[in-house]
Amino acid sequence: MTAPLEFDGGGTEQAEAEEHDVAPAPAQSPPCVLVIFGGGGDLTKRLLIPALYNLACARLLNERFSVVVVDWADNSTENLRAQFDDTMRQFVTQRRAVASQLQEEEWAWLRSRITFLRGSFEDPDTYKALDAVCGQMNCVFYLAVAARFFAPIVLQLDASGLSRETEWSYRRVVVEKPFGSDISSARALNTQLRSVLDESQIYRIDHYLGKETVQNILALRFSNGFFEPLWNRQNIDHVQITAAETVGVEKRGRFYENTGALRDMVPNHIMQLLAMVAMEAPTSFDADAVRDEKSKVLAAVHQLSAQDLVRGQYTAGSIAGRAMKGYREEPDVAPDSHTETFAAMKLSIDNWRWAGVPFFVRTGKRLATRKTEIAVHFKQAPYALFRDTPVEKLTPNIMVLQIQPSEGVTMQFSAKVPGPTVKLGGVRMKFDYNDWFQEGPSTGYETLIYDCLIGDATLFQRADNVEAGWKVVQPALDAWGAGEGELCFYPAGKAGPDAADELLARRKRHWLRLI
Ligand code: BG6
Repeated sequence: MTAPLEFDGGGTEQAEAEEHDVAPAPAQSPPCVLVIFGGGGDLTKRLLIPALYNLACARLLNERFSVVVVDWADNSTENLRAQFDDTMRQFVTQRRAVASQLQEEEWAWLRSRITFLRGSFEDPDTYKALDAVCGQMNCVFYLAVAARFFAPIVLQLDASGLSRETEWSYRRVVVEKPFGSDISSARALNTQLRSVLDESQIYRIDHYLGKETVQNILALRFSNGFFEPLWNRQNIDHVQITAAETVGVEKRGRFYENTGALRDMVPNHIMQLLAMVAMEAPTSFDADAVRDEKSKVLAAVHQLSAQDLVRGQYTAGSIAGRAMKGYREEPDVAPDSHTETFAAMKLSIDNWRWAGVPFFVRTGKRLATRKTEIAVHFKQAPYALFRDTPVEKLTPNIMVLQIQPSEGVTMQFSAKVPGPTVKLGGVRMKFDYNDWFQEGPSTGYETLIYDCLIGDATLFQRADNVEAGWKVVQPALDAWGAGEGELCFYPAGKAGPDAADELLARRKRHWLRLI
């Protein structure tokens, strides 16, 4: 998390008056070879290369920066560069993640630094060839591969000496999701990685932490005097975390069948959101200070019990007027599949700040809209004053942290409706990122890559954080594995199964509307 206290005021006079607070621009990363294992895949094409291009445009990459793409499939440097040319031009045309005009000079700069190396991930010769390229340079090894290759690659990096750091050069390994498929596999993977790497060399990615709006949660909570005094069980009734998607499983049926919504989203992305909202203030933005606080709050989350959990699966339906297939009709999905595409749950955090405050979570595919947000519902004000007025109920005070696609914060509260009698109306106050900041185009990976190059691990998950997330969901995985837990169905385009509404209704609450 680079230069966290930088102040970049938007267009108002007050903001401009604060410009003396602007921190110096971030420094260029040190010289480095970025080795991408599995570089022929989608992640590299769609996210890593555009992110590197954006970093190049921002002049944050060193003159001695280069990329080696390692893949087992047949390819050549020239061909790979041409493939990336196509993706970049496509992205530019579609205005996806990069500016609407390709900066030819910057792209040529990056393109000329990309080379291809053909090799199997388990063949020592691949690592000999890599060693010749890496020499004494700093290296980041990015594992953009299927999870079964994580340990074999890291063991080969160790056996070949490539992962050994020296006084002059670092060696770091970036591990993508999924980090294990349950608590024991996550622990086993951590043990394997740490048998050959120091924890400080391991950068476990959760791409949610690359989102500006997620990083903003800490800034919002801890740089403003008025939120924190209210941020506790005395004032907050409950919190709702929603990660709703309209997409289905696309071409990932095989992966998703063995994964499901709970594993795919909750121990990782949702737990990160929850930690950001619920953690105590760290003593600094130092990586371990932040991750220690996350660890503490995640350790205080109760393990999920069956009565607090709903699992759903989409059937055929429609979204925005377009007919959608049911999950069981998707490619590579069993016609009697019991994999959940939706999960809703109540989580509790057993500490002084949050005891008694339920955290309701819902996440799913093929829902009515795409929306990720955290809604903090405050306790109601005393009603007595309005007893003799036409006011029947008070509008709940809700603060919504909008993560995506809208980016901002809204506050909902009551105001008097103009007129001779006392009537209240629910109103909203809205902060929208776009109104204040000119955010550059981004894939969400720029900060993560840059932070790894400069050695700032704040936005990466430590071993204990990952295991704490799995620990919370493990009882639910065990119960489902033993055939327990009813699977409820919902038509594509709805807000999930009815049972998700009942989960809150039983506790006299209801979800915020999805649309
Ligand atoms: C990934 C999941 O980790 O996150 C996907 O595997 C999901 O299934 C995606 O669609 C959601 O990410 P985002 O950034 O679109 O919210």
